[in-house]
Amino acid sequence: MLKPEIEDGQASLADPQFRADVLAGLARRPRAIPARWFYDHRGSQLFEEITALPEYYPTRTETALLQSLCPELRELTGEGRAVVEFGSGSSTKTPILLDCVHPSAYVPIDISGDFLRESARDLAQRFPDLLILPFEADFTRPLTLPRTIADAPKLGFFPGSTIGNLIPLAAIDLLRAMRASLGEGAMLLIGMDRIKDEDVLVPAYDDAQGVTAAFNLNLLARINRELDGTVPVDAFAHKAVWNDDRARVEMHLEARRDAAFEVDGRAFDIAAGETIHTENSHKYGPRDARILLRAGGWTPVREWTDADGKFAVILAEAQAERPAP
Ligand code: TRP
Repeated sequence: MLKPEIEDGQASLADPQFRADVLAGLARRPRAIPARWFYDHRGSQLFEEITALPEYYPTRTETALLQSLCPELRELTGEGRAVVEFGSGSSTKTPILLDCVHPSAYVPIDISGDFLRESARDLAQRFPDLLILPFEADFTRPLTLPRTIADAPKLGFFPGSTIGNLIPLAAIDLLRAMRASLGEGAMLLIGMDRIKDEDVLVPAYDDAQGVTAAFNLNLLARINRELDGTVPVDAFAHKAVWNDDRARVEMHLEARRDAAFEVDGRAFDIAAGETIHTENSHKYGPRDARILLRAGGWTPVREWTDADGKFAVILAEAQAERPAP
């Protein structure tokens, strides 16, 4: 049974997929809940705060890169492509790109519909002549883009190292899906965070102010709100660890004491020290990044990095169907 929930004065229904993912994720060992469920309205707000944290270098590094690469990028892509942004969020980096490549249309795709419409409105004020077609969808699945832009050459935009939030298997599936959705002649501008010192990586996901902790813990609050949960949020602590073997930062919710709770009428136990795995952020060295793109059907064309090599923005083009030999 779907139950209406009241939040911020607005009625909303719990997503059946959210319920299924949470129930399965808590029952499984190791426990894990897909990271996409972080992004309710509160989660999206907290995430915006993360991007401004002193420890969180990726956003400001990538933003500066996008500003400086513009002339070269415009040369390589030409003007008038339809820009399709995957997981647009509040689209803060978008104006830089739109100013640069003068697209014929802009299609922001995001799972958080509220946030998507909010930022599309802001963008419409800033670019009154631009055709903006917001698209509420889970972009990890194949999509059919609006017909209006069917014939325009596309420029996919996938900043923020969001690709790193997928395990390599899923990252390659996604890159291939993007290539299929964007079509022949498409290009892709993608941000990837580089492998670097653990002392820099871990604080980026465990800041001194505790915003990332609040972001992670909001998932439990959301479960309580939307899935009739009794999770004792104060029994859990945010934990970020570097997994060197897999070249990724992992976020977990660690039980600090034994706890028992219910979600949607089902009972769960967790022992002190056990965790719920909530997020991965894979990091890619230069060659890793290029092989990942090629495996996903994209040929790297140009690569830009900051002076310290912290972050990379890569332009790639859709591979021909049957590359030789
Ligand atoms: N993709 C970015 C990253 O991995 C942003 C991100 C996703 C993030 N989930 C996060 C940042 C959780 C901090 C915490 O860095």
